[in-house]
Amino acid sequence: MGRKIVHFDSVDSTNTAAKELADKGEEHGTVIIGEEQTAGKGRLGRSWVSPKYKGIWFSFILRPEINPMLIAKVTQVAAAAVVKAGDEMGFDFKVKWPNDIIMNDKKVCGILTEMSAELNQINYVIPGIGINANLDIEDFDKELKEKASSIKIESGKAVDRKELVGRIINNFEELYDSFMADGKGIDSIRICRDKSILIGREVRVIRGGQTAEARVLDLNDDGELVVEWEGGRIEKLFSGEVSVRGK
Ligand code: BTN
Repeated sequence: MGRKIVHFDSVDSTNTAAKELADKGEEHGTVIIGEEQTAGKGRLGRSWVSPKYKGIWFSFILRPEINPMLIAKVTQVAAAAVVKAGDEMGFDFKVKWPNDIIMNDKKVCGILTEMSAELNQINYVIPGIGINANLDIEDFDKELKEKASSIKIESGKAVDRKELVGRIINNFEELYDSFMADGKGIDSIRICRDKSILIGREVRVIRGGQTAEARVLDLNDDGELVVEWEGGRIEKLFSGEVSVRGK
């Protein structure tokens, strides 16, 4: 993993570039890094602010032989790789299931996993990781500032971007191999559970345009969020948008 790195000084989106390369046959394990993204993509069709030399914007090309249903686990592997790297460098990262990394209640990293599959067979999976490493307060607009921040702002010191991305790639390789070996990604899920910001909290869940309130009980060994709805019914969520109430 990461033995081949394709580096762009400027790119529209590392996910888009990775997909184009994968469509042309690029092999498993190649990493695409951009110093800036001119059309960075977030989840749910949002854009992702990606100023030059300030963040870490990168994507993996993976060709796993797994059921497409398991794609959410790739996002958890990526989240766990980021959190572990933060731990190694002394940053207190938390995970907001399923794909956000949080510092002091603010989002400092997001993950967008895209896939190409045909007839239940994966062609490739592209997890894209965006880390707000050294962004300054003026890089965020008014609305974004309320929810998002950077590692530099939250920790008070600039981040060695090279060290952080190197550690994430190494951790990703290890955790991905472990996922391929057990088919469950239990090592990654354990990290995400230990560092979960949601377990025990009152949350708002948005599904199919509907909002409902619940309490998070656990992140189970299948990587599902176990919630108790108001009224006591317990359900396992496979994916979704969850926000902590009052935030
Ligand atoms: C989100 O939280 O909405 C996901 C954000 C994902 C951003 C990263 S930056 C690298 C990769 N390329 C993109 O265009 N998006 C992802």
